[in-house]
Amino acid sequence: MLGPIGIFDSGVGGTSIWKEIIRKLPLEDTLYLADSANAPYGNKTKHQILALSIKNTEFLLNSGCKIIVVACNTATTNAIDHLRTHYKVPFIGIEPAIKPAALQTKTKRVGVLATKGTLSSSLFHNTSKLFAQGITIIEREGTGLVELIETGQTDSNQLRELLMEYIHPMLKENIDSLVLGCTHYPYLIPILRQILPDNIKIIDSGEAVARQTHAILEKEGLLCHENRAPRHVFYSNSDITTLQKLVGTDKADVSYLDF
Ligand code: DGL
Repeated sequence: MLGPIGIFDSGVGGTSIWKEIIRKLPLEDTLYLADSANAPYGNKTKHQILALSIKNTEFLLNSGCKIIVVACNTATTNAIDHLRTHYKVPFIGIEPAIKPAALQTKTKRVGVLATKGTLSSSLFHNTSKLFAQGITIIEREGTGLVELIETGQTDSNQLRELLMEYIHPMLKENIDSLVLGCTHYPYLIPILRQILPDNIKIIDSGEAVARQTHAILEKEGLLCHENRAPRHVFYSNSDITTLQKLVGTDKADVSYLDF
């Protein structure tokens, strides 16, 4: 029997990717690690992010995962090259969706909200250079957002105020697209829709990651074809309340584990 799809994030944000993955791959088992005890990754050094990514990867591999989805922009942009060269399984990463945004912007001005760790990475800079020629990118670090989402806040006043502070300078710069460069941020879409004018498109990479996961599993002959109820296991090394709230306990098995 083939193993589950392994997924990790600094915390609960990668569940936004997990939801896209199970929609696209409904027969697959999944094993998700929320490294919430170490969240946020975004303010850590590249070295620290790499060490945490290796720890998560080794746990997932020791649990028999056949593929690993790094459901964290910060971990992908700082660690995926290393992971791909050191481990044999396929890795799927996520990075801010600069290319689709650059293809569809009319004002040629795109906002990117992401963590410090992502915005300062060379992978992010290289992608921007490659795909956003002639486009102005207005970057903003989403300081404090991950911490609030980790505690289950997705519509508090504090969150709204922080978002207004981060988004207003972008609006002044006449962006018409906002790239969500952190897997926690799709949970902010309802509140962002209230803040943003209707003409501004919100772009995130969740669906593209699920498509890519499907494509690689198919190419490698790793797709599950067994028609039975899949098993979804979640571990968090911190309080599991938010994780349970976001994934629901009806279809997932969520528990605390000091991994
Ligand atoms: N979900 C992570 C990401 O996509 C959050 C990073 C953090 O923990 O700061 O970047």
